[in-house]
Amino acid sequence: MIPLIDMHCHLLAGLDDGPSTQEEALAMCRLAYDDGTRMAAATAHQNEDWPEVTPERIRLAWDRLVQALREAEIPLAVFPCAEVMVQPDIESAWVKGRLLSVADGRRYLLIEMPHGCFLDLEATVRGLVAQGVRPILAHPERQEELLHEAGQIERLIEAGCLVQVNAGSVAQPHSRADAKALKDWFQRGIVHCLGSDGHSPRRRPPLMAAAYRQIQQWAGHAVADRVCSTFGMAILQGLPLRLPKPGPRRSNWFASWWK
Ligand SMILES: [Fe+2]
Repeated sequence: MIPLIDMHCHLLAGLDDGPSTQEEALAMCRLAYDDGTRMAAATAHQNEDWPEVTPERIRLAWDRLVQALREAEIPLAVFPCAEVMVQPDIESAWVKGRLLSVADGRRYLLIEMPHGCFLDLEATVRGLVAQGVRPILAHPERQEELLHEAGQIERLIEAGCLVQVNAGSVAQPHSRADAKALKDWFQRGIVHCLGSDGHSPRRRPPLMAAAYRQIQQWAGHAVADRVCSTFGMAILQGLPLRLPKPGPRRSNWFASWWK
């Protein structure tokens, strides 16, 4: 199987609601490696619930994880990352260096919608792109408005946003309607990368392979390889990406019935 790249996994011990100890973090890394993951964005929340999580603390925790992986002889490559909750001053926080980019490369920034509400992120996306960093929206499929309302996610992609879907949403969709909408997203090239959003070895394990197989079934090998591997590799290395233009929505009732 192609090396899986996990673009969103809480692996930094003691920083947020991910693993509380390094042993737990290593158990997650072993699980991920055995499941086929070869690179992972070791992510911590940056939001008002975790005000002490600064770029410097993430870098230090990432350093400790790299050392622990070496000592435990687990050949998983990890990269420092933050999951930044959108806030009114996100653009100035970025400019002042208060937010950690994906792999600390200053090319991509993993962002998430504030919990429990839906915001129009187009201006935020355009503002960040103007500052030279490309936002990647974490798990937009959790948002009814983005998954099910025509044109919403396409508008964000058009503004320069990338889309990261959670492996769990693919392997175990909440409903048949969600599964159908996600299948449509993969077939139309809406999704750019996959993350486990792992938090622990048990509660939310860092697994990707089942989702990879489902994406293969839904949209074929080429899409599964791009979303689960090659785009993630490029992003972690800070390389620019030329995104596929999203395919058109299927609009007539016969097409949606025939799917
Ligand atoms: Fe997360």
